[in-house]
Amino acid sequence: MADKRKIIIDTDPGQDDAIAILLALASPEVDMLGITAVAGNVPLRLTEKNARKICELAGRPDIKVYAGAIRPLLRTLVTAEEVHGESGLNGPQLPEPTMPLQARHAVDFIIETLLEEEAGTVTLCPLGPLTNIALALIREPRIAPRIREIVLMGGGFFEGGNVTPAAEFNIHVDPHAADIVLRAGVPTVMMPLDVTHKALTTARRVAAIRALGNRVGIATAEMLEFYERFDEEKYGTDGGPLHDPCVIAYLIKPDLFRGRHCNVSVEIASELTMGMTVVDWWGVTSRAKNATVMRHIDDDGFFALLTERLGQL
Ligand code: RIB
Ligand code: CA
Repeated sequence: MADKRKIIIDTDPGQDDAIAILLALASPEVDMLGITAVAGNVPLRLTEKNARKICELAGRPDIKVYAGAIRPLLRTLVTAEEVHGESGLNGPQLPEPTMPLQARHAVDFIIETLLEEEAGTVTLCPLGPLTNIALALIREPRIAPRIREIVLMGGGFFEGGNVTPAAEFNIHVDPHAADIVLRAGVPTVMMPLDVTHKALTTARRVAAIRALGNRVGIATAEMLEFYERFDEEKYGTDGGPLHDPCVIAYLIKPDLFRGRHCNVSVEIASELTMGMTVVDWWGVTSRAKNATVMRHIDDDGFFALLTERLGQL
């Protein structure tokens, strides 16, 4: 097998984050160096606890989980309990975690890991607001050239936004952090709503995950059945978009996705379009290309991979 991909997942669990973490833990192609929690879908005290719950669900209490930013850089925290439930992981009944939260701050863990690991070997996988990543880049600019790649879920362009007409949640919560990350000069892959809205948790797909019959499969089906109801009602679809696991699936099978290298700029001035990711898909500006923006997914292939891997846990 090709060298394992060393990753840090930065996350705000959130059912879709949880499934992304499970996919990573089930995949031999991935070497999880640690998980850093950020405030987003629910407050930090819940996102860090949920990350530990998911590691224990996967039988991996050895994974190191760190707590990071309790709020965005400048804006007031906006959460999404209406989507994820009060706990952030509504659906399955998961026990309180017994594995410890690491004492180090998430930002320090990110910096120290990037300085200690061989340059160009660690991939950052942000699945929530980009506050921790921006703080790390500001605190220690030396890490930027040492990051192999940032593969993030966030943004939207032809698909628009999901929190405002213009902005997707992760970018909307901390647009200033997103601006800092996208200007850092780090090779970046962006999984926007244009891709994730094509990865729908249809009844057939959820049934296949539940039919795995293992603890992880059943818990994942329970998470999805709770989580998808909000988007099914909003979009009138069979199933809701499964956002964050697209990031991990890209690491494992990049050919599931197609996109284009282009400039992505973030609105940080106008309240009307705050957090909008302005993607120069047609190359009509002279702005430097700073991200590979994915637009297409083989959704059957994605769910086949996810289901097969969840069955391994
Ligand atoms: O807009 C979808 C994103 O916001 C996902 O990462 C979801 O978990 C929430 O954080
Ligand atoms: Ca998330």
